[in-house]
This record gives sequence, C-alpha cells and structure tokens, in this order.
Amino acid sequence: MASYDVIVIGAGPGGYVCAIRCAQLGLKTACVEGRDALGGTCLNIGCIPSKALLHASHLLHEAEHNFAKMGLKGKAPSVDFPQMLAYKDDVIGQNTKGIEFLFKKNKIDWLKGWGSIPEAGKVKVGDEVHEARAIVVATGSVPSSLPGIEIDQKTVVDSEGALSLSKVPKKMVVIGAGVIGLELGSVYKRLGSEVEVIEYLDEITPGADAEVAKTFRRILGKQGLSFTLGAAVQSVETARNKAKVTYKLRKDDSEHTVDADVVLVATGRKPYTDGLGLSDLGVEMTERGQVKTDAHWATNVKGVYAIGDAIVGPMLAHKAEDEGMAVAEVIAGKAGHVNYGVIPGVIYTMPEVASVGETEETLKKAGRAYKVGKFPFMGNARAKAVMQAEGFVKILADKDTDRVLGCHIIGPGAGDLIHEICVAMEFGAAAEDVALTCHAHPTFSEAVREAALACGDGPIHS
Ligand code: NAI
Repeated sequence: MASYDVIVIGAGPGGYVCAIRCAQLGLKTACVEGRDALGGTCLNIGCIPSKALLHASHLLHEAEHNFAKMGLKGKAPSVDFPQMLAYKDDVIGQNTKGIEFLFKKNKIDWLKGWGSIPEAGKVKVGDEVHEARAIVVATGSVPSSLPGIEIDQKTVVDSEGALSLSKVPKKMVVIGAGVIGLELGSVYKRLGSEVEVIEYLDEITPGADAEVAKTFRRILGKQGLSFTLGAAVQSVETARNKAKVTYKLRKDDSEHTVDADVVLVATGRKPYTDGLGLSDLGVEMTERGQVKTDAHWATNVKGVYAIGDAIVGPMLAHKAEDEGMAVAEVIAGKAGHVNYGVIPGVIYTMPEVASVGETEETLKKAGRAYKVGKFPFMGNARAKAVMQAEGFVKILADKDTDRVLGCHIIGPGAGDLIHEICVAMEFGAAAEDVALTCHAHPTFSEAVREAALACGDGPIHS
C-alpha cells in the first residue's frame, strides 16, 4: 500500500493532464489506468487515430480531385488500407508513449489496472489498496448505442470499430449526423465507400449555428455523402456480414430499409463510471448518469472529485483537460477556474467547422440584441490559392457594446482560426479590437479580421 496526495482514476486527456499538473504543483501523484496504453479514448480510439485517417484520406481526395488542376499529373495513389491503419497505429503509439514519458518525467506512478473507491480516501487497484488525500474520477465516456442494436465491431461498429475495419466497405450507413458520424463518414467516403447518413433531427450537427449546419450539409453533399434527415432508426439486422437498417420518417411515420456492408452507430456517448463503486460510496449522480459536482469539481463525498466526460458539460477532450488543470489547482489550494463560455468545438472534416460561444439561435432565445459580421472565404486570396474557398467566418457581437459573443467558422483551418476569437473573448474584446489587429497577408486568418470589420464599417474584400 502506498500513500499519495492525489490519485487520479483514468488517464485520458482529463486524467493525465490533471496528474501532470498535480505533480507540477508538488503533490505526490498516481494515476490509475487499466488500458495497456495511457491517453484514454482520445489517444487510443478517438481524436488522434481519427485525425490520422482524416489526414490520409484528405490527401487522397486532393490527389484525385485537385492535383491535375494544379498541374500535378500522374496516377492518383491507390489505397493500401492495412498500411493506412498501420500508420494510424504508429501515430497512436507515438502519442501514448509521449504521455508515459511525461509521467516518468513528473514522477507520477502509473497504477496499472482498473480502479475502484472502496471508501473515501482509498483507491483499490487489483488486490492493492492505496491511500490518497484527494481522488479524481476522470473515467470518461463510452459510446451509447440504440436500444436493441448490438455492436459486433465488424458489421455494426461504433467509433472504435470504425477505426479498425478489415477493409473499406462498399456501402456504409452512418446512424447519427453528429461529430463522429460526419468525421468518420467523410473518411470512408473519401476512401471510396458509398456513405448514407441517417439522422433523427431535421438538420445535421445538432446545436450548431443553423447557417453553418446548412452550408456544411451542402458541402458534404457535394463531396458525395447522402443524408436522410428526420429519420429515427428502429433496428439493425445482420446476416452474413451484411446489415439491414430500418428507419421511420418522422414526418409521415413511413418505414424504410437500407442495406449496408458496415453500419456505424454514432448516436452519442454516455459517462463511464462502471466498477468504481460510486453508488456504494454514496456519490450523487445526475439523472443522465453523470457524477454530480460543485463549482470546484468536488462531489458530495469529501475528497472525491470528478472531471471530463464523466460530469456535466460538452464531451470534449479539451474541456476535460481544462477541468483537469483547474481541479489540480483546487486540490493544491489555489484558485482553479474554467470559463465554460469559451470552449471551442471543432469538427475535423474538410473543410473544418469550428465554433465558440453563442449562436444566433441561443442569442435570439435569450432576447439579446446582437449584430452579425460575416465574411466568405471566396474573398480570401489564400483560400482561393489552395482551392479551399468554400465557407465563411461569422462573428456575433453585442449590438450596443460590440463585445464579441460568439464565432462560427466553416472553411480552411477553421479549427485553428477559432482560437483568435477565443482569446478575444477571454479578454472581453470588442469586434473592433479584432478588426484593428494587423493580420498577416495572405493568411486564412484575414477572413476572421474581415468578419470583425463586417461588424463595423464593413469588410474590404466583399
Ligand atoms: P452527437 O451527440 O454529436 O450526435 C449524435 C447524433 O445522433 C445526433 O444528431 C442525434 O440526433 C442522432 N441520433 C440519435 N438517435 C438516433 C436515431 N435513432 N436515429 C437517427 N439518428 C439518431 O454524438 P457523436 O457524434 O456520437 O459524438 C459523441 C460525443 O463525442 C459528442 O459529445 C462529441 O462532441 C464528441 N466528439 C467530439 C469530437 C470533436 O470534437 N471533433 C470528435 C468525436 C466525438
């Protein structure tokens, strides 16, 4: 039995970042992880591997569709899928080994195995019980399938299975037009699959700015993805490595069936707290199975904290990371804080989609007077030079004070561009502050400045 200041349970982006910050703040820290590699869902079966496949398949798309136009002639590359998966696995290995290195560097003990909390102040891993002044639950989330649909990770897969298919399917049906469905649907479309996305709601990407969602669907449609909206999937039947997906159209209750070689179920995720013993410990949970925490990530049980996908809020790696750093500070007696109003969201398709803060819909609902500054990438020289001039930047600012309230970008590099606005919002900037900041030419970021100019006297290039 060892004794620690802090034991973090789970080594995903929330947990490992928390452990590192705890150690940096001088706390004796251990992190429990049962997987063979550190990094959690994000590094092993989520964000990072999917980005490797998105990158490789994007380059294939460029070779097939744009190289000749740029004067690059020759045979387009063909897909060696096992090699692409090996590349993805190598990327995973580099990243998870990197976390192992950081643990060693910061003298964090990796307690290998699945942890539970038999009583406050104690964490059990295998047969060993360790003591800790503070315990942080950072156990993340797992895919939540639909009732009656069995995930076999071959014909019917979730995001994990979709990253390790044995071959590129001829026809893929994606259930759910959320982030996972669209990112992985894009990958397989580019690799040659016919991809049909079935979505319950009447628009893709629930919660996104409506204008962005509409533009995004149009662009993805041009790339060859097909969408069936307003359709509730009822069942998926499998026989001899094929699947039949049955859905009901909400507008008239009519039932339809589509065939698929692979069905990707991407209908959301749910908090994962199985086996921790939280209910015996008396930890309060929400109705949706999230661990209840106060403003300092403390549960109702003294010394037990929780962060990331296991608690309320957007299920995003960077939200978990921020909470991990903040709770470490709280445990170390400092003032940890997360600004939940400035958490960007990015969809890593091509083009990327990024957002932060309010949407027009949330502002209307709140009855807040706002103005819109919009600029299309068609007016951005750099975007045209690289044949990525689709999309726009939209900045929402307070009508009276000009303070930036939100930003929505669909276009090249959106996932990086959004951070200029995140910083602006953290500093309480006005759109004019962004508009008066010199932006290098020619960069995509000029489109952000032009959108900020559009909140005032108007953009130059449109
Ligand atoms: P999601 O919540 O983003 O989307 C699920 C979609 O499935 C919704 O549009 C919903 O209406 C639809 N749906 C639910 N039941 C249905 C039914 N019976 N028939 C048809 N459609 C149905 O969930 P997703 O994409 O699985 O992602 C899970 C979580 O992981 C999200 O919180 C997401 O933010 C996060 N994530 C974030 C990434 C990023 O930041 N780039 C990448 C991957 C995941």
